[in-house]
Amino acid sequence: MIIILLGPPGAGKGTQAGTIAEKYSIPHISTGDIFRANLKEGTPLGLEAKKYMDSGALVPDELVVRLVGSRLDEPDATSGALLDGFPRTVAQAEALAEYLAAKGRQVDHCVCLNVPDEALIKRLSGRRMCRECGAGFHVDYSPPPADGRCSKCGGEIYQRDDDREATIQNRLKVYHEQTSPLVEWYGQRGLLRNIDGQGSVEDVQVRIFSALGA
Ligand code: AP5
Repeated sequence: MIIILLGPPGAGKGTQAGTIAEKYSIPHISTGDIFRANLKEGTPLGLEAKKYMDSGALVPDELVVRLVGSRLDEPDATSGALLDGFPRTVAQAEALAEYLAAKGRQVDHCVCLNVPDEALIKRLSGRRMCRECGAGFHVDYSPPPADGRCSKCGGEIYQRDDDREATIQNRLKVYHEQTSPLVEWYGQRGLLRNIDGQGSVEDVQVRIFSALGA
């Protein structure tokens, strides 16, 4: 089973991904997480990606496609994967379809989480994360501990550089210009599952599983 999680920044892709991946026993592959992990390690890939991520721009297609292709070849992904944040351009979607077809595989569902821009700005500007385990918090909805240490692993809580107001605006612009055409692209192929991404995390989860027929 190959499932794509599509949606603007802050739509809740990362929040919902773990449960979906667990349900289908498939790995959760987040291109954003891979870039951040590489940046933390100071690898050439991480340093290259940072040039784009800091301004909210997209990392070049060629680099991302190569990265995801080799990740999908790993043993744990041969029976499927949950792709979070990839593809993000029509060129990436075409490259993915071609890559999978060459291996006799295909995308099964594209789940698109829909949330209005005003709510996204609120979610992203209040988001805080653990530098060690990646756990997510929100200053209003699920506040991090007052000592600034993660309640799960004790790691340092921080705000992502791209969660600053000016960068959020650019990420939304980039989404509307470069990624939202994928809604039509997957719709034309009968793979799109449109989901209302507002309401509680649990409500959104129920809608996703219902759309997937799970
Ligand atoms: P990436 O890490 O993929 O960021 P993103 O798509 O902008 O997504 P986010 O992680 O910000 O949001 P999310 O939808 O996962 O929301 P979350 O669950 O965290 O990419 C970062 C950068 O990497 C890109 O800008 C680009 O530069 C580069 N990149 C990555 N992939 C690429 C690609 N394929 N091609 C080119 N470049 C690429 O939730 C957000 C907040 O909302 C949290 O605080 C959460 O607690 C809260 N929340 C979640 N659900 C709810 C709810 N139902 N109600 C209230 N609050 C909620």
